[in-house]
Amino acid sequence: MEKTFSIIKPDGVRRNLIGQVLAKIEQAGLRITATKLVHMTKEQAEKFYEIHAKRPFYQELCEYMISGPVLVSVLEGPNAVAVYRDIMGATNPAQAEKGTIRAEFALSIGENTVHGSDSSENAKIEISHFFSEIEMVNSLTKISH
Ligand code: CMP
Repeated sequence: MEKTFSIIKPDGVRRNLIGQVLAKIEQAGLRITATKLVHMTKEQAEKFYEIHAKRPFYQELCEYMISGPVLVSVLEGPNAVAVYRDIMGATNPAQAEKGTIRAEFALSIGENTVHGSDSSENAKIEISHFFSEIEMVNSLTKISH
C-alpha cells in the first residue's frame, strides 16, 4: 500500500467540483484515508511550495493557492502516486490526456484543479504539512470492494 497527497485547488473548490474529482479518485481504486478543507495562509503556501521557490511563477502560485479554500486529502492504494498522477493528467491541461481530471476540469497551467505528489518520499513530506497520524484512517484500505 502506498500513500499520496492530493489538493483540490481553489478553482476546483470554487466551481463545486469536489464531488466529481473525488469520484474519479475513487473510481481509480484509491481510498481517501483523510480529507479536510483548508484555507492556507501565505506562509503555509510558501512553505508547501518551497521546492519551486526559485521558479518565476512561485509568487503567483502561492497567491493563487491562498485565493480560496482547498481540499487536502491523503489517498491510499497500490502504486497510489503513479495512479493519481495518471488520472490527474499533465500539469498543462492543453497537454492532458482525454478523460483525465485536468483535461476535463482545469482552466490553465496555474488553475489546474489538482495537485498530486510526484514521489512516495515527497508524499510523506506533503502529508505532514497538513495531517497528523491520528487523522489518517489506515484500516479503510483493508475493506475490499
Ligand atoms: P502543481 O502540481 O501544484 O505543482 C506546482 C504548480 O505550479 C503546478 O502544479 C502548476 O499549477 C503551477 N504552475 C504555474 N505556472 C507554471 C508553469 N509555467 N510551469 C509549471 N507549473 C506552473
